[in-house]
Amino acid sequence: MCEWIEETDSEGNYLKTKKYEGKLYVSLIPGNIKDHLERLENMEIRDDDTFIMSYPKSGTHWVFTITSMLRTGKSSYIGSPHFLDYNDVDILDKLPSPRLFASHMTFDRLPRQAREGKGKVFVVSRNPKDVAVSLYLFLTKLKKADFSGSWEGFVKFYTEGKMLYGSWFQTLFDWEKTKATNKEDNVMYLIYEDMKQDLLSYVTKMASFLGVTYDKPFLEEVTDRCTFKTMVKTIIDEIKPQDQDFIHKVSDEKKLPIYRKGEVGDWKNHFTVAQNEAFDRIYDGKMRDSKCKFRFE
Ligand code: A3P
Repeated sequence: MCEWIEETDSEGNYLKTKKYEGKLYVSLIPGNIKDHLERLENMEIRDDDTFIMSYPKSGTHWVFTITSMLRTGKSSYIGSPHFLDYNDVDILDKLPSPRLFASHMTFDRLPRQAREGKGKVFVVSRNPKDVAVSLYLFLTKLKKADFSGSWEGFVKFYTEGKMLYGSWFQTLFDWEKTKATNKEDNVMYLIYEDMKQDLLSYVTKMASFLGVTYDKPFLEEVTDRCTFKTMVKTIIDEIKPQDQDFIHKVSDEKKLPIYRKGEVGDWKNHFTVAQNEAFDRIYDGKMRDSKCKFRFE
């Protein structure tokens, strides 16, 4: 059974999600969730399909843009990915190859054939403090958002794991479990902070994981086109009319409010000392057994 969860705290902070089989999902997921997930489970996958999986605000669109250039051999900007989460499977089925999908769900919700090794899967993770800031500011720019309220209210819901797609920690642990148990070699794990540090080497590794071969100048061109600065400019210059329509529907901004600062450590401008100390205590406790070490600056 899918359940609507709506919560308003004493300060008026409001959160709306859908819960199914113990996990939280964004309210956009169609209907009772169950039917959509069942159709996704049985979706026909092609060898050149790519899935970009992440907790929200971890760099999904960044990885999508790099992947689209590597899959097509063209360094042009092609808009936003099709999310498995809320697009009808009939639409996803009809997309031309190479198809690039994104999702904020975890491995268990990928189509069965992808879990069995067909297509390629990128998983991108980012430190939870920058994710929090990015997600909060993104939600404030949407005309209709599942959360509304103050930064303080957001931090409280977020640290309690009550957020769109649930807890950042749980999502990371789910992927760590997949990494330890999944025997297929079609999943590559990326860390946002590492990509920021040396994008060319990541672009090169991603190409080799996808099984595509390019000369160094093309890989350098992709790297250059996918730096934050160039992407923001390109997106404004090359935006397609259908994307512009979509942006107007969701936000009053000129560009999709996805591209904000693209930095490591912006959380320092938003977390108070007390919020930071409280979050560090939770982080240290929860991450004790994790193999992932995130950089926060
Ligand atoms: P900020 O809000 O911190 O700027 P997602 O695509 O998963 O929604 O993630 C959005 C975050 O990724 C935003 O973070 C956005 O600016 C950042 N991002 C997008 N493109 C990027 C790029 N080329 N380099 C670095 N960060 C990028």
